[in-house]
Amino acid sequence: MDLIGKLSKHFSEEQLRFDQDSLAHFGTDRSRYKKPAPAAVVFPQSTEQVQALVILANEGHIALVPSGGRTGLSGGAIAHKQELVVSFDRMNKVLDINTTDRSVRCQAGVVTQQLQQIANDNQLLYPVDFASSGSSHIGGNIATNAGGIRVIAYGNTRNWVSGLEVVTGDGKVLQLNQGLVKNATGYDLRHLFIGSEGTLGFITEATMQLTEAPANLSVLVLAVVDVQSLMKVFDAFRLSCRLTAFECFSQRTVDIVCQHMGLEKPLHKESPYYVLLEFDNDSVQKEETVLATFERCIGQGYVSDGVMSQSAQQAKDLWRYREDISESINNYTPYKNDIAVRVSDIPLFVAELDQLIAQRYTHFESVWYGHIGDGNLHLNILKPENMVAEDFFTACAELNPHVFALVKKLQGSISAEHGVGLVKRDDLSYSRSEDEVAIMRAMKAVFDPRGVMNPGKILT
Ligand code: MLT
Ligand code: ZN
Repeated sequence: MDLIGKLSKHFSEEQLRFDQDSLAHFGTDRSRYKKPAPAAVVFPQSTEQVQALVILANEGHIALVPSGGRTGLSGGAIAHKQELVVSFDRMNKVLDINTTDRSVRCQAGVVTQQLQQIANDNQLLYPVDFASSGSSHIGGNIATNAGGIRVIAYGNTRNWVSGLEVVTGDGKVLQLNQGLVKNATGYDLRHLFIGSEGTLGFITEATMQLTEAPANLSVLVLAVVDVQSLMKVFDAFRLSCRLTAFECFSQRTVDIVCQHMGLEKPLHKESPYYVLLEFDNDSVQKEETVLATFERCIGQGYVSDGVMSQSAQQAKDLWRYREDISESINNYTPYKNDIAVRVSDIPLFVAELDQLIAQRYTHFESVWYGHIGDGNLHLNILKPENMVAEDFFTACAELNPHVFALVKKLQGSISAEHGVGLVKRDDLSYSRSEDEVAIMRAMKAVFDPRGVMNPGKILT
């Protein structure tokens, strides 16, 4: 029986798509790293249907590629070799809200923002947040251990997963940790699936933890005079309040965002670097302490100007200078580097990176921004207008070893939060040892012996 015949046994006509538009749409992610070319798209509605699909894939040696909100930036959800795309769009049910456990159990296709809204409706917080939370799926967040803008206070997605249901590559359904806070019964398989990018199995359901909502978040945007001052400012504010975000971006990124989004400049004078920091402004004393820290940073010459939000709307408006960067620079078809070092190494890293860019990237413009409070920088190389995208990406790949060698020297990561996917796969050895990769391969063989789960991602 051909593939269509086999699929039709388990799925209704409206759960299957073969048309070119759907193949192009569901077979890619935001990296647009490879031209999508899947064989079909399947829309399961239950764990049983995902399991049936995996069993079918094992029998017929069919490669499966998971598709969530397709907001990934590393090609983890690209199907370019006639694979079967498994879309989680119809596995979008919230199954249980438990305010005693402070948890929500949901299917993998629930959109991140929906989970944030549910938390909010219950006077609680789901704290993992990023610009794409309006489209990304919880399943995709878990599969890439998504980070975002509040990692400094709340950690990555991993910290909030208390239970997982997965279908392994050989078709077993596993219930992992069942929402428990404490569970010391051996290897915690849940954590293997977090960040595994669909290469071991597919996440079908998750139990996500919620926490207390902060009372009143205020935002400051500061003009910072140089790289060394960035960390001085970080240290100063960290001592005076509980930071919930500490983000950084350059003047060039501000220019691009303002031009693309039609925004006014955040401050009167220009500055090489900007910091956006957020803190819980829960008392008059707290605000006074923070303002005194701001004055001190001006006095010490670290900061030349700044603005603080006076309302929730103003805080939201200020966030746009940071959150709208990704969308704004997309017009330049950027080559994205998502790198991390220990926070204390940031000044050295940025200084060496700037030197490297000045020496090696002379024919390309580069901009960087990032979650500097957790050591994660996004170095984006912008494609010259007259250059073909493929040639540009090839040229960037040739330059990569220089950046990655610097990352390796500082024992950093070549993918802090975007995942490995296809884009960083061949460079994994800069961050993971041969022994580690061998163990990863062995684990893949245990969970996915026939290699049907998102093959070619993370590992060759
Ligand atoms: C961000 O921090 O804005 C996201 O990781 C996306 C990006 O780097 O483009
Ligand atoms: Zn980021």
